Amino acid sequence: MFSIQGKTALVTGSGRGIGYAIAEALASQGANVTISDINAELVSEAAAALQKKYPSVRVRSLLFDVTDRAQIEAAMATLMKEDGGLDILVNNAGINLRDRVENLEDEVWQRMLDTNLTSVFRVSRAALPLLRARGAGKVVNLCSLMSEIARPTVSPYASTKGAVRQFTRALATEWAEYNIQVNGIAPGFIATDMNIPLMNDKELNDYIMRHTPAKRWGKPSEVASVVAFLVSPAADFVTGQMIFIDGGFIVSL
Ligand code: NAP
Ligand code: GCO
Repeated sequence: MFSIQGKTALVTGSGRGIGYAIAEALASQGANVTISDINAELVSEAAAALQKKYPSVRVRSLLFDVTDRAQIEAAMATLMKEDGGLDILVNNAGINLRDRVENLEDEVWQRMLDTNLTSVFRVSRAALPLLRARGAGKVVNLCSLMSEIARPTVSPYASTKGAVRQFTRALATEWAEYNIQVNGIAPGFIATDMNIPLMNDKELNDYIMRHTPAKRWGKPSEVASVVAFLVSPAADFVTGQMIFIDGGFIVSL
């Protein structure tokens, strides 16, 4: 029930961090994965490393910026031409530019919207013909603990991640008739490059440890394993949900 043997998966922003961990988890479960990112060197190195680790699956690298419509269309055309469709889409690419509202420039706000929210809409829309070519499909969107709560300096991030949660729910209601399940995951504080500034800030790190019952930072692999469940047949009746992967943060007072 958990096998995704032979399925094809695209993970956006998977050159490093949580995205790479997700690609690795899906490859370890037998899926043929496409690593995609905006950094050419990073994406080819990541794909080569994953292919070496999992020689029984096909790992492809694809350079595309999720904020560029033409690049999204070109990427989907490549996947349709080479694979005849797509089974699994993980909208992972995202950024977190932090500042107080009064200091935020329009350009920063717009870049956050483009990268974290509009990209999920555009990539999902472009992937639909490929998912429907299979007669079934899985979409997982990277939401966040900040889809539900907030803290100072993350207004653009929390706003985009809150919207991704609602987009996930809406898309789930529309695509259920195509047998495509759409879910979100809400990682808590995970040790990746995105959070180096927090890990290096004693006050912030203490705040996170105080509010995380597990009293530690999460690992990218602990996020990836939940994605592996959601994209497997075991989750065929799960759609429109957002699963917190946060060491208990959201339920702690
Ligand atoms: P990360 O370490 O900063 O990695 C993000 C990846 O996305 C990088 O490889 C980056 O490419 C890529 N990317 C950025 N902009 C892109 C674009 N326009 N097109 C394609 N790829 C792009 O971040 P992470 O911590 O792994 O986070 C991954 C996802 O999980 C994000 O959506 C984030 O919001 C979400 N999340 C993270 C946490 C956490 O605690 N880390 C918690 C909740 C949710 P470059 O390497 O070239 O910059
Ligand atoms: C921050 C962090 C958080 C985590 C994560 C929580 O600045 O508060 O980046 O946003 O990355 O998104 O779910």
